[in-house]
Amino acid sequence: MIRLRNISVEMDERKILDDVSFEVPNGHTKVVLGPSGAGKSSLLKIILGLWKPDSGSVFVDNLDITHLSERQQMPVRRRMSMVFQGNALFDSLTVEENVGFFLREHSDLPPAEIRDRVDNCLEFVNLPDTNDLLPEEISGGMKKRVAIARAIAFNPEVILYDEPTTGLDPINAKTVTELIMKLRTERRVTSVVVTHILRDAFAVGDSLALMNEGRIVSDGPPGSLLESKEQFVKDFLSEIREEADLLLQPSTGSA
Ligand SMILES: Nc1ncnc2c1ncn2[C@@H]1O[C@H](COP(=O)(O)OP(=O)(O)O)[C@@H](O)[C@H]1O
Ligand SMILES: [Mg+2]
Repeated sequence: MIRLRNISVEMDERKILDDVSFEVPNGHTKVVLGPSGAGKSSLLKIILGLWKPDSGSVFVDNLDITHLSERQQMPVRRRMSMVFQGNALFDSLTVEENVGFFLREHSDLPPAEIRDRVDNCLEFVNLPDTNDLLPEEISGGMKKRVAIARAIAFNPEVILYDEPTTGLDPINAKTVTELIMKLRTERRVTSVVVTHILRDAFAVGDSLALMNEGRIVSDGPPGSLLESKEQFVKDFLSEIREEADLLLQPSTGSA
């Protein structure tokens, strides 16, 4: 379980995160929606421990990791993976070398076992036989899947995704949302998925939080967002009204 309690972060005298609290139970997929600049990526950095909050606490299960040193945080960090918005693949390394990179650097597994694990991960994301290709030789959708394969190489309990479908066409976006759901159902992974795409949010989210200007303005089951009376929520939804209407038609009462 991930729990944030009253997290605030200030930079250049501006509040980037303002009293943010929320919880992600084990095996749950929490979506964080919001416009650009809302603080979504900052929130992920806090969860990963890359940033320390100015105030508030971060718990993983019941361990307060807020003030742990880099070294003390290592065992907790090992249980988490992040899929970065730009994938963060190494351009000069092959797909196989990218997926196995952290296993080579941070585990004592013998090379043969690393190769097996890499093959398993590539199979999981449905990219068999791409081992020897370079990132520049594969499509954007495939790169995202390689980034996911690398993220699951350590069998993480928690995966954080930053805008995993941004810039992908609808078919590739669907492949990615299906992978996020498969990790939840088959491996009971706990996920936080940051996005500003409503369709993807509803596809994967057990619950949705909506952020604006560093604050959480709505948080709850997917239906509660659609029924919210908060002005910002209504404005945010009306900007993407067509999508929202489509979602409302089949069932309004999922809350
Ligand atoms: N390292 C930083 N220094 C100063 N301001 C930052 C830094 N990182 C992000 N910000 C600011 O914090 C706000 C939230 O950023 P971010 O979390 O990246 O938003 P989002 O991911 O929702 O688009 C933005 O206004 C951004 O300019
Ligand atoms: Mg961002």
